Amino acid sequence: MMDKDDFGPITRNRRRATITSAKSETVKLRNGAIAAASDLRRGPKARESLTKNLQLNEDSTRKCDRYDKMSCHKLQESMLSSASSFKNYRGILNWCVVMLVLSNARLFLENLLRYGILVDPIQVVSLFLKDPYSWPAACLVIVSNVFILVALYTERRLAMGSISEKVGLLIYIFNLTIILCFPMVVVLKLPSITPVGGAFALGVYTILFLKLYSYKDVNRWCRERTQAKARSLSRSLSCPSSSFASSAMQSHVSYPGNLSLRDMYYFVFAPTLCYELNFPRSESIRMGFLLRRLFEMLLLTQLLVGLTQQWMVPVIRSSMKPLQEMDYSRMTERLLRLAVPNHLIWLIFFYWFFHSSMNFVAELLRFGDREFYHDWWNSETITYFWQNWNIPVHKWCLRHFYKPLLRRGAGKLLSQSAVFFFSAFFHEYLVSVPLRMFRLWAFMGMMAQLPLAWFVARFLRGNYGNAAVWLSLIIGQPIAVLMYVHDYYVTHCEDDPTIAEAL
Ligand SMILES: CC(C)(COP(=O)(O)OP(=O)(O)OC[C@H]1O[C@@H](n2cnc3c(N)ncnc32)[C@H](O)[C@@H]1OP(=O)(O)O)[C@@H](O)C(=O)NCCC(=O)NCCS
Repeated sequence: MMDKDDFGPITRNRRRATITSAKSETVKLRNGAIAAASDLRRGPKARESLTKNLQLNEDSTRKCDRYDKMSCHKLQESMLSSASSFKNYRGILNWCVVMLVLSNARLFLENLLRYGILVDPIQVVSLFLKDPYSWPAACLVIVSNVFILVALYTERRLAMGSISEKVGLLIYIFNLTIILCFPMVVVLKLPSITPVGGAFALGVYTILFLKLYSYKDVNRWCRERTQAKARSLSRSLSCPSSSFASSAMQSHVSYPGNLSLRDMYYFVFAPTLCYELNFPRSESIRMGFLLRRLFEMLLLTQLLVGLTQQWMVPVIRSSMKPLQEMDYSRMTERLLRLAVPNHLIWLIFFYWFFHSSMNFVAELLRFGDREFYHDWWNSETITYFWQNWNIPVHKWCLRHFYKPLLRRGAGKLLSQSAVFFFSAFFHEYLVSVPLRMFRLWAFMGMMAQLPLAWFVARFLRGNYGNAAVWLSLIIGQPIAVLMYVHDYYVTHCEDDPTIAEAL
């Protein structure tokens, strides 16, 4: 009978140690050949002991090898079973990438063979301008300066105490309402403004609305703090305390020293929606970083335009007929066909906007806080996705809408619903007004996030939750795109011969 200790898996380490020591002995002997040679020279006794040593080592090595051959099993799980602690799936990931590239290369070739080259950068200009001598969207953006100056002038008056808080609030309500209504009326009434030009102008005005709202809140908080401190006979907020008066803090702006044109325009151009008197600033502009971001911006813009013209537009055009005939199986096929380019374009847009463009502007303005996004791609819940994909909007929602509602006693669900309602309104505003039709698809898409968030959190966990988030992004967006394009086609260009030809 074999001794358990000799062959059991537990003794493997011990055996390895024996082999190693035996091997090292041999190596030692080999390496010490010169020393051995000198031993040999000493006499026959030394020679005999050396030969004995060599034989012994050879024997033990042979014995260990034989043991190794006899025991080849140990208690262990298969790599793909969840009980094994194996986690390195890099090869699988590479395989996914290779498969993705191959299948997309096939799609790309198929697209080229079917439609030829459709990319036309000049056509992009016509998306913004109908007439090269009329730039209505750009004029609208220039006019927005009026609203910025009204906000600054109101704040200065409030700081001086020449108008009351109530009057200030009324001016703000008027100013912010006009910011939303004025571009809307212009876009709806002016036929020379294109849908893309209109969307751009409305986007600028929406950002301005959010920024000026934040500007109003922060300056009011400063006044309230100053008054509270004055009332409690402590030092005024506007005077830096002696401990803060060091040379390092001399550039520190305090209320009402922030109410300058320079400070206001810094905030208007800064990549944030939340106003602060003293933004964190980087030491200097890193030229290499700036040029890399600029290169990415230019390259990705071309890629976005190319993919839209070559891939997205033909699929959308070919989807019109099944949509009109309500042919469900072909509708689903077109929807899935649209999902791939739409998702790819959305991902590129995310990188272009939140990484390249925002970092470019931030670097140029030495704006220090570069937290424009978090790891939304790891979202296991819909809530996590909305908290992390667009940090500037999320921060604004938390600071100026969600938390004030909670502080006033509103429940968490009600406050969350109110934020999503507010966000849904702006999504609809940015799509419906430029397209000049009100269909509420964007609004409903945003409001649907609440029940979807509940469903995913309640029934799906971990990887399943993550897959659900990806699926909602990959399928949800093209549904909205198809709805809008279909409705736009039906209301505006059913008689357009170019589109009719494509069907
Ligand atoms: C609605 C929304 C703001 C909720 O955010 P959330 O992070 O899930 O909210 P939470 O309930 O976890 O609480 C967030 C904060 O409120 C605080 N809070 C929670 N309950 C509170 C209460 N009763 N009183 C005071 N504060 C409270 C939390 O402490 C937390 O503070 P912190 O940020 O300092 O840690 C978020 O989902 C959102 O931004 N949605 C809209 C996003 C959007 O439309 N984006 C558009 C992109 S195109």
